[in-house]
Amino acid sequence: MPDSAQLVIVANRLPVDRVDLPDGTRGWRRSPGGLVTALDPVMRANDGVWIGWPGGTESDLEPFEDDGLSLVPVSLTEDEIEEFYEGMSNATLWPIYHDVVAKPEFHREWWDSYVTVNRRFAEKAVEVAEEGATVWVHDYQLQLVPQMLRDLRPDLRIGFYLHIPFPPAELFAQLPWRRQILEGLLGADLVGFQMSGGAQNFVRLVRQRVGHKTHRDLVYLPDGRTIRAAAFPISIDAEGFEELARSEGVTKRAAEIREALGEERRVFLGIDRLDYTKGIVARLRAFAELVEEGKLDVDDAVFVQVATPSRERVEQYRILRDEIDRFVGRVNGDLGRIGTPAISYLHSSYPREEMAALYRAADIMVVTPYRDGMNLVAKEYVACRYDDAGALVLSEFAGAADELRQAWQVNPYDINGMKSALLEAFHAPEKDTTRRMRAMRRTVLRKDVAAWARSFLEGLSEIRPEHGKTVRPPRT
Ligand code: G6P
Repeated sequence: MPDSAQLVIVANRLPVDRVDLPDGTRGWRRSPGGLVTALDPVMRANDGVWIGWPGGTESDLEPFEDDGLSLVPVSLTEDEIEEFYEGMSNATLWPIYHDVVAKPEFHREWWDSYVTVNRRFAEKAVEVAEEGATVWVHDYQLQLVPQMLRDLRPDLRIGFYLHIPFPPAELFAQLPWRRQILEGLLGADLVGFQMSGGAQNFVRLVRQRVGHKTHRDLVYLPDGRTIRAAAFPISIDAEGFEELARSEGVTKRAAEIREALGEERRVFLGIDRLDYTKGIVARLRAFAELVEEGKLDVDDAVFVQVATPSRERVEQYRILRDEIDRFVGRVNGDLGRIGTPAISYLHSSYPREEMAALYRAADIMVVTPYRDGMNLVAKEYVACRYDDAGALVLSEFAGAADELRQAWQVNPYDINGMKSALLEAFHAPEKDTTRRMRAMRRTVLRKDVAAWARSFLEGLSEIRPEHGKTVRPPRT
């Protein structure tokens, strides 16, 4: 563990999960997220440190190394998990930032906890950052950290990246703490968004609500500092996914899945965190109606829906889980036959290998969020289809729709439109699906997550180049 770091990543979660080891002790396992894959090489080249919450309420955790990565845990109390994480982050900000798909709740104690926890993260970062270091703060849970860092350590180069959408001014304006959040973000030198629309929303709000001068993607502060707000669409480790999809284990597993589902049936697939932004019920409804109307037959088609448990103590997530349970039960009760349910529903999380096997086994991947910053599942599916086969039905409200233009794009609020797209994708001639998949694969393989990290860090070092040290590119 280095005493001080040139690069500090600050994210709500550490890139490892707590696991019970066979010898009875507790250890860590690298979580499958793409972020750590992207940042791993640049962390190593810069003696980087990652600051984050390990999940749970353990409070006496010391900084540690995991497979060469230096990790600094930040503890949360039971109350903070309720107020900062489940409350302010996931029952206030999450719905507001996703088009108010669910009703946001506003509680002043939640906000106080958000401020306290953001300060804890900022103080930890300051402890480990060397003079002139780069600190890269991630996501909606930590929007106050940039300005807190700047107040404590003006020598730092500070980047912030929002992984979820940044809402239009009309929705953001509902937040009682809107000004504090904007000011928190303005502590950064570079504020990154998934889409240029998010960056524009931010700049407009800064002009309207904070009163700073702006021009295009720049904000001019009275103290002479300039901040840039721009889009950096995130991606995945595309080569890594392709390699996994080609592996013997995954090939074998994909064949097993096909066999279990019935070789002659075509497979629709949805894989999501169980979240109300993902439009899970609407897409299942579209599929079920097609079966009901006889346009699809359960002997020819099955919908496999994987919903990964998420934020299970937040009320809206519990309500959604019950709704899906009921809906799937009813559809299978009404439309299934013995041994051939219409929907095969799995409420569970799976390792990357199993996901890759599912992607390979699927004929039609269905990704229909009401609003999504990017949606990496869509990109993972494309990366795994090295055979150029498979169709993608994709919501136009996912960030990924901007790049994956050859998908069957749908409006998830329009059930009839989704039904048509599902049918078209189901009946599409191979020539058509191949042409579309090839084009999408070129996009996904060309712009991977390493390119994303590089372009953000380069963008960060171009602002006020005289200030702070420059992050070194990874050694090759
Ligand atoms: C989204 C957010 C991440 C978050 C992840 C999982 O992708 O952008 O910040 O970590 O969901 O959610 P969780 O609440 O389990 O961290």
